Amino acid sequence: MTLKNPIIGASGTFGYGIEYEKFFPLESIGGFVTKGLSLRPRNGNPAPRIREVPCGLINSIGLENIGIDAFVRHVLPRLEGADTAVIVNIFGSTVDEYVELAGKLDRFRRIDGIELNISCPNVKAGGAEFGKDPLVVRSVTAKVREATDKTLIVKLSPMVTSIADIALAAQDAGADAVSIANTYPAAAFDLRSGRPFLGAKTGGLSGPAIKPLTLKLVYDTYGRIGIPIIGVGGVTTVEDVVEYALAGANAVQVGTASFINPGTADMLVRELAQYLAGRGIRRFSSLVGTAKK
Ligand SMILES: Cc1cc2nc3c(=O)[nH]c(=O)nc-3n(C[C@H](O)[C@H](O)[C@H](O)COP(=O)(O)O)c2cc1C
Repeated sequence: MTLKNPIIGASGTFGYGIEYEKFFPLESIGGFVTKGLSLRPRNGNPAPRIREVPCGLINSIGLENIGIDAFVRHVLPRLEGADTAVIVNIFGSTVDEYVELAGKLDRFRRIDGIELNISCPNVKAGGAEFGKDPLVVRSVTAKVREATDKTLIVKLSPMVTSIADIALAAQDAGADAVSIANTYPAAAFDLRSGRPFLGAKTGGLSGPAIKPLTLKLVYDTYGRIGIPIIGVGGVTTVEDVVEYALAGANAVQVGTASFINPGTADMLVRELAQYLAGRGIRRFSSLVGTAKK
């Protein structure tokens, strides 16, 4: 997959793409990742599902989505004219579900890539996250790889002992890139009721609060794998984009920042071009991983 620029809308914060058409032309950004899709539609968790905290938010959406069939029938045709990379995020509760999802998406030309969300419970492994164990990551990635020729991106969980080992497992099994990373487990409590604030009790932390944590994960992984890294965590300003590049990211995804200003991704494309031109940097890729030296 070739991106026209390194700015991508992040899964779960960019709807199915079409919701953002009223804010800016989708073709201005490198691409976007859809909300995570499953075989069947899901209602998600009970409300409240979002809690704003200093420098970020905790969400417990619970992977609400319209289901893969509604997506390909009703949304995909509306993306036909958009000259931007369409990356479909998928998740399942068994390896077979991931394979079935990837197989269903493989025949659509409009889909440029598939991103595997492996921060979900593996029902057959007693609910342990797929993304925690390199052997499981290897197995789910390899099986999905057999089901599709699309660009395959594995989105890693940040809650692992060695992120580079997980990234290596994904690479060895045929992933074309890794996204680093998903949200961090977090909680918030309501002092009046004395109970957890979120309906699901706990959720995942995102936004500027997590940027230094995820930057470190990218930095730790760069040089250990040969495939590109997409940095995802707290990207809000053009300086954040450049920091991720220095740490080793070839592209970034913009998540929570789009909830502050839905035009953020579009703004970053323009500001990045200005930033690079102002410093005589011809190619963004020349910055990638330079902090390692
Ligand atoms: C409301 C919300 C919903 C999300 N839904 C998904 C999802 O369906 N699949 C997924 O892989 N990541 C999901 N994420 C994680 C984001 O894609 C991203 O990895 C994370 O928020 C960190 O980036 P940020 O700090 O820029 O938001 C979601 C995040 C938020 C805030």
